[in-house]
Amino acid sequence: MKIEKNVSYEADGKTYRIYDVTAEDPIQTRVRNHYFTQHQSQTVGFVQEMHKKWLKFDHAKMPILGCLDMLATFLDESDPDVDEANLIHAYQTAEKIRENHPDKPWMHLAGLIHDLGKIMSVWGEHQWAVTGDTYPVGCAPAESIVYGKASFQGNPDIDHIVYGTPMGMYEEKCGLEKLMMTWSHDEYMYQVLVNHGTTLPDEALYAIRFHSFYPYHSHNDYLQFQNERDIEMKSAIMMLNECDLYSKNDETPDIDALKPYYQSLIDKYVPGNVNW
Ligand SMILES: [Fe+2]
Ligand SMILES: [Fe+2]
Repeated sequence: MKIEKNVSYEADGKTYRIYDVTAEDPIQTRVRNHYFTQHQSQTVGFVQEMHKKWLKFDHAKMPILGCLDMLATFLDESDPDVDEANLIHAYQTAEKIRENHPDKPWMHLAGLIHDLGKIMSVWGEHQWAVTGDTYPVGCAPAESIVYGKASFQGNPDIDHIVYGTPMGMYEEKCGLEKLMMTWSHDEYMYQVLVNHGTTLPDEALYAIRFHSFYPYHSHNDYLQFQNERDIEMKSAIMMLNECDLYSKNDETPDIDALKPYYQSLIDKYVPGNVNW
């Protein structure tokens, strides 16, 4: 059995984020297949193609809650801890942030919408290009990525003269926002919001963009790219992350009762029809 090194993800007697390379049960097998495919297939060239495909925002025009409804029955195959549909997870995360940080309404909304980028899979995108943890392409992978460096065998970028090195195609202290991250729901949702002209504060956008970057925010890898702004913004990621991860066993929220509150936040920060 393998539990991630150095970091334990425990709350209320439950351990989260177990990635067992040998387990044969259906959930662990599903999760392992997901990550091995992601690690072998996400290259610089692949991410560039995804940018071309998704950053035209020509897939749909609909409001935030319309997208959330479309994800009502979506199941994240990379997640060993969730058997609930995404709609429940969205409200559980948002309500946990609301409980812990009542003074930050924009973060409540970030919690509600942080996974909406998974809509790409409803429209046919492979889950290994949508869900799960993220890390930068164009530089050597860190051992703290789930299933470790060995899971990258077969990825052509690993032996590349530039992309295969720790600094890769980047400069020291360039800042996380300059990195080309694996294509995922994090980056897509961030770009959708910016394209819409959202008035969400930078902390909310940054937290959405990097919430799945576990090798950085929970294992302190990739610090060669971190700049002053990243150091300041890290607490925003953790605010979202702890409520994202540890709300997964919370009670099922009364969505109808909660909707008016969240609609008022949407009207303020991400109003109207959004281009996806
Ligand atoms: Fe997520
Ligand atoms: Fe999430």
